[in-house]
Order: sequence, then structure tokens, then C-alpha cells
Amino acid sequence: KAIQWFPGHMAKAKREAIEKLKLVDIVIECVDARVPESSRNPMVEEIKGNKKHMIILNKADLANPEEIKKWISYYESQGIIVHAMQAKDGKGLNQVKASMKKMMQPEFEKWAKKGIRPRPIRLMILGIPNVGKSTFINRMIKKNQAITANKPGVTKGQRWLKVGNEFELLDTPGILWPKFEDREIGYKLAITGAIKDSLLHMDDLALYAIEKFQLVAPERLCKAYHLTEDDFEEMSTADILLKMTKNLGFKDDFDRASERFIFDIRGGKLGRYTLDMAPIPASKTVED
Ligand code: G4P
Repeated sequence: KAIQWFPGHMAKAKREAIEKLKLVDIVIECVDARVPESSRNPMVEEIKGNKKHMIILNKADLANPEEIKKWISYYESQGIIVHAMQAKDGKGLNQVKASMKKMMQPEFEKWAKKGIRPRPIRLMILGIPNVGKSTFINRMIKKNQAITANKPGVTKGQRWLKVGNEFELLDTPGILWPKFEDREIGYKLAITGAIKDSLLHMDDLALYAIEKFQLVAPERLCKAYHLTEDDFEEMSTADILLKMTKNLGFKDDFDRASERFIFDIRGGKLGRYTLDMAPIPASKTVED
């Protein structure tokens, strides 16, 4: 499901997202926990307007747990509500739901004062392709698949999915474009598989990944391709790629080795990793 984003598509995606948002109480911005900043759409702030907003760091099972904690502190320091979760198996979803109820507390109280019966909290999920939006929707409605009728004000063909009595979720996510001005972000999105068939060459991607994994998981990189940590000191990334190619038994076919390496990373063979490093929140800076 590769999508080519042209300015016209972007304008349309933005318009559609804003349209869908009208009847929503909370916008859930879904990002990949391995690349929390790189997988954010550059315009979500603007698109969401003054709606309540939550970031979910999805695919937490694939990211480095220590780095997830840092990202959570960072976003919290920015006043953003954030949760790590795994849409695939539902881990973390209960905290997300509890947090959404807490976010709506002021409205619940306002309704109670006016004697209005509380209605379900209306949600929509938003994000770039492949971060897990559809998986999230399916996970939310798992047990309660009832679909409510079309309501006025919702884009034609859109439906609210009932999630118990407490939530209603728009059945289609807001799909936004990925960041693509920055080469490094492009590499990160391609490595994690957010952009699957990119215009980037596999060998460039592999060289970038070698550099990154030397930092984030050197032991696992060594183990998977029979390298030593001395190689990282002594050899250029290009030479390391050639050594990996030989060690994989691919002779000098570094294109094939590059592809294997990237698929290994995507397939989890190099374990859990995070490619975006969280800025240290000002309040947490330690002087040593
Ligand atoms: P989208 O709507 O945002 O485009 O993403 P979608 O739900 O289609 O999910 C994209 C891929 O991410 C899917 O894998 C999905 O299974 C996987 N995914 C979603 N949530 C999680 C999670 O919490 N952990 C992990 N590890 N993966 C998650 P796929 O490769 O398209 O299919 P498959 O691997 O499930 O067969």
C-alpha cells in the first residue's frame, strides 16, 4: 500500500482530517515507538487545532524500553499526554482508555451540572502510514463490533464504531503524509518499514543502518553478522558492509546483503531498538 504524496494529496489528506475532526473529542496521534519524532506528521499540531490530543507510541514491543521511558518523560515535559502501547496484542490499551476518560473529566462534570447524560467519548486516530492505526481500530472494537448508523456531520461513508458504552471511534483513520524533507528521517522510516518501497537505495540504507546499530545495539550487530567491536573502530561502514556480505556467504553481492540486513532489522532479528533519541527535558538535566 505504497502511497505517493504529492502536494495535491497532502492538501486533500489535511482537509479530510480536519473535516473528520469536527465531531471528535480526542485525537489520537499514532506514532512508531522506535522513531517517535520521525514518524510524526509535521502538521498534526495545526490540523488538530484545539482538540484534546494524545500521542500513542505504538509497537512498543519493538522499541528499546529505556528509550520509551525517555520519550514519555520528554513528551510529558512538553505537556503532551502520551502512552506506550502495542496495538497488535492490546498491551497498554487499558491505560490508554483510562487516560482518555481522565481527559474528558471536565466535560463529564460540565454535563453532570447541566443534568445531561454523558455520551460516549468520540475518538479518531491519525498518523502516517504503517504506524498501526488500523490495528489500533481493530483492537479497540475487538469485543464490541456493533456499528452505529451514519450520523449527520460525518463525512459520507464514515461510521462510528462503538467500543463498549464509553467510546465511539471513527472507522477510518486520518492518514497523513510522512516527513520527507530530511534524508535521515527518510532512512529511519525506511528501516522501520514505515516507508517500504522507498526511492532510497538498499545499500545506502544498509550503510546508514550499520552506523546507527553500532550506536544502539553493537553487540547484536556483531552477533548477527559475525563482526567484532574492533571492526567498528578500524573499518569504514562500507568495509563493514563488505565484511557482512562475505560473512553472509553472499561473496561480493553487497546489494543482496544490504537487503537481507534491512529485512533482518524489520523482522526483529536485531532485537528491540530505537532510532530517534529523546531530547533531555530541561527539568531533568543533571549537572555532573
Ligand atoms: P496503518 O493502519 O497505520 O497503516 O498500520 P497497520 O495497522 O496496517 O499496521 C502496519 C503494520 O504494523 C502491520 O504489520 C501491523 O501488524 C503492525 N503492527 C501494528 N501494531 C503493532 C504492534 O503493536 N507491534 C508490532 N510488532 N507490530 C504492530 P504488517 O507487516 O502489515 O502485517 P503483519 O506483520 O501483521 O502480518
